[in-house]
Amino acid sequence: MTSFDALLPRPVRVRPGPGRCTVASVVTATDPASVALDPARLPHPGAYRLSITPDGVRGVAADAAGAFHACQTVRQLLGPDAFRAADIHRGPWTLPCGEIEDHPRFGWRGVLLDVARHFLPKAAVLRFLDLMAAHKLNVLHLHLTDDQGWRVEVPAYPRLTEVGAWRAGSWTGRRPDGDPTHDGRPHGGFYSTDDLREIVAHARARHVTVVPEIDVPGHSQAAIAAYPELGVTGDPVPVWHAWGVSEHVLTPSESTVDFYRTVLDHVADVFDSPVVCLGGDEVPTTQWHASPAVQQRAADLGLDSVDALHGWFVGALAGHLATRGRRALGWDEVAGALPPDAIVASWRGEAAGVAAALAGHDVVMCPEQHVYLDHRQSDDPDEPIPVGYRRTLADVYGYEPIPAALPATAHDRVLGAQAQLWSEHLDSPRGLDYAAFPRLAAFAEVVWSPRAGRDPAEFLDRVATHHLPRLDALGVEYRPLSGPHPWQRRPGVPGRVRADR
Ligand code: ACM
Repeated sequence: MTSFDALLPRPVRVRPGPGRCTVASVVTATDPASVALDPARLPHPGAYRLSITPDGVRGVAADAAGAFHACQTVRQLLGPDAFRAADIHRGPWTLPCGEIEDHPRFGWRGVLLDVARHFLPKAAVLRFLDLMAAHKLNVLHLHLTDDQGWRVEVPAYPRLTEVGAWRAGSWTGRRPDGDPTHDGRPHGGFYSTDDLREIVAHARARHVTVVPEIDVPGHSQAAIAAYPELGVTGDPVPVWHAWGVSEHVLTPSESTVDFYRTVLDHVADVFDSPVVCLGGDEVPTTQWHASPAVQQRAADLGLDSVDALHGWFVGALAGHLATRGRRALGWDEVAGALPPDAIVASWRGEAAGVAAALAGHDVVMCPEQHVYLDHRQSDDPDEPIPVGYRRTLADVYGYEPIPAALPATAHDRVLGAQAQLWSEHLDSPRGLDYAAFPRLAAFAEVVWSPRAGRDPAEFLDRVATHHLPRLDALGVEYRPLSGPHPWQRRPGVPGRVRADR
């Protein structure tokens, strides 16, 4: 029988009472109709209060998101079977009695899905949104474009998906010791406008905002494959099959910026997010330096170096987003070039986030050392493609989104944090489940629950006893706490011997 101790993320305050409450039918994931809204009594956005007595369940919420959160809490209290679609109408169900007061610590509780390196079919994105909502996560950052694939249909430029969404194969194993000749298995896919509208509507019903990312001016080889004139040389290039950072970047001409204005107009029509990500990370400038035309462009724009075109490019598109009433989000490399209201995603560590917050930007903390969930989970030789920093479940639980170096006066610049699931080595929904869970449950508690009172031993016990049964009921193929399952081993895949860091 579940008790308040089973809840994940842990609520702000609980007062268990005597007895249990019996209910005839289960609340469904998106049916908070029993919850009254009372913003005056609950000033925190997303807050809710539940009072459970033997006579019934009463809920009050600050807003619709709070009512939705109350529903997720009730589902958890009903027990793992409440997460099994087949059991949803089976009853009666019982809940523990008592009072719960709850609200999120941060407003941005994000997850990045990289659907560019490996396309994730729409149904898997919708399912992932369900899993996010069950964990009270509320921002899905969709990384839609990269060197290895372009995943968003843009009616004005059909070749972006006719050509840019497909590649001949994929590098097997990891950089630099994998096999750089690809596996010969063609890969691709894209979301139609209708698909994206469905994803956005599904997310909205679960109080999740979908933040689209169109990455410029680097990570753009798939777009250049579709329209070579977007590149510096104009020469044809294939959609990239390798991992890493391609040298083929966008040329900073007026026509290229105009092309992307049209792309962003379409993106702004499809996505309701107030924020759109322009990427801006990892931009090699070798091709720009080698091009007399690009050097002339920098001079014409009054820039003192070709390198400054990086910030200029992102800044120009951020300005365009502003005309559509949208805020830009950029990875930390472009922090200095973004307009004051833009949000900075601090991924290379915490220092960039601290600097951006002190410069007056809102920031989302995404440090690769802590919250890149595609990175390896242990030193077990059977970990599939063990890239990056080793981060265990306990490590993720120990992450603190407010950097220690950030003065208290700037703490409110930290909107929250975001876990990243880059997909070079996550080529299926099963691989994604393995990397994401249960670490994403730890992340969910980090961004929702109060910092005080975190007890790693209690958390690990709660996951094992209460949360894994929920994930089982949801059909999530998480990494067992004891180590990888045999199906997750990938014998013979190059690059399994040495960890990168
Ligand atoms: C990034 O990991 N390049 C944002």
